[in-house]
Amino acid sequence: MKFLGNDMITIENGVLKIDGYDGNKLAKEYGTPLYVMSENQIIRNFKSYEDAFKKYVEETGREFILCYAYKANSNLAITKLLSKLGCGADVVSGGELYIAKLSNVPSEKIVFNGNCKTKDEIIMGIENNIRSFNVDSIGELILINEIAKEIGTVANVAFRINPDVNPKTHPKISTGLKNNKFGLDVQSGIAMRAIKMAKEMENINIVGIHCHIGSQLTDISPFIEETKKVMDFIVELKNEGIEIEDVNLGGGLGVPYHKDKEIPNQYYLADAIIGTIMEYKDKVDLPNLILEPGRSVVATAGVLLGKVHYIKETPCAKWVMIDAGMNDMMRPAIYEAYHEIIPCVLREEKEVVNIAGGLCESSDVFGKNRKLPKVEVGDIIAILDVGAYGISMANNYNARGRPRMILTRNRGHHIIRERETYGELIAKDIVPDHLL
Ligand SMILES: Cc1ncc(COP(=O)(O)O)c(C=O)c1O
Repeated sequence: MKFLGNDMITIENGVLKIDGYDGNKLAKEYGTPLYVMSENQIIRNFKSYEDAFKKYVEETGREFILCYAYKANSNLAITKLLSKLGCGADVVSGGELYIAKLSNVPSEKIVFNGNCKTKDEIIMGIENNIRSFNVDSIGELILINEIAKEIGTVANVAFRINPDVNPKTHPKISTGLKNNKFGLDVQSGIAMRAIKMAKEMENINIVGIHCHIGSQLTDISPFIEETKKVMDFIVELKNEGIEIEDVNLGGGLGVPYHKDKEIPNQYYLADAIIGTIMEYKDKVDLPNLILEPGRSVVATAGVLLGKVHYIKETPCAKWVMIDAGMNDMMRPAIYEAYHEIIPCVLREEKEVVNIAGGLCESSDVFGKNRKLPKVEVGDIIAILDVGAYGISMANNYNARGRPRMILTRNRGHHIIRERETYGELIAKDIVPDHLL
């Protein structure tokens, strides 16, 4: 079994290094809290997908397109890096589409997801001639058709189906179950009805079937079940005289947040998906294959550094208070997510502690009962695997500016996002005259 790894963290002479750079020195130079992203790790993660799936192109002559899910981390330096590598974009808002265009992602590699696209967003997608809107409801289909007609063009659409597959992940990041809000239900015939309606619409071009069953999938079997359900549906469509060009299977693999948990890598995923699609080669013309991974492209490439300001004892625990908080990285607070935590100076003596941020919320805790090398006030603490759904979910709660972010490379490091200032925190507030 191979593992999705985090190759950028090393420990040398009792010091934690990130991509070869001493975490203590980075914290001193750039201040804390600080996000550190590794260019090399992002490139490795992206290339593993390309490498694993190239056999689909070789065996079928069809395209394989990786559309990175911008929601995981849409920092412009990162989206430009991925675009330069040839990566496409999965966007879910006008804002993400704007960033994709600014990152020079070609239109034919942009797909637009989401269950509540606004009229303005649909216009923007049509004007940019994107590869497909992944349509989530019949209402959306009707609106896209109307807008395309007004503009005098034809819009490309794929249909997001809900296959009712259990992704075996956290309920808050499950999306392909019958009781989730996403997609067009297959079993009840709603998906087929929508596609037949689309066939009659003059301003709609049916290009694909889309499906996304959830995030942080650590088992391959749900992907196989999903692929089978999608391919079975494509056979049904063929029988109705509807040919499908693109199959989009949604997000990618989970990542090993727990370092002792085995997770299959991209090669296992590719074997499973390609093997399943190949079983249909005598039944349908094989489609182009699209994947929209986010987490597995950037999660392992990110570390959040926080400085210890206080250490206090309560009757129940010893608490280490750091200057990073739940506004900087929400995953533990909202999903009870586990992240490895390592001090940047690793002393011999160990102790069991809770690590918390400084916000006025009891859920502002990064880890409980962690056995760590003893820490002292002034030490730097590293929270690992925060490159995905970290800065992109960060907010200004407790009027805290979002952190600075740097990108490490072979030859040095660069700031890729500035820390927000107090002035920026109130820049959008307006005080009416009577309160001046
Ligand atoms: C439609 C869609 N595609 C792709 C993704 C990315 O998933 P992941 O980050 O698990 O690869 C998501 C995230 O939930 C999503 O909702």
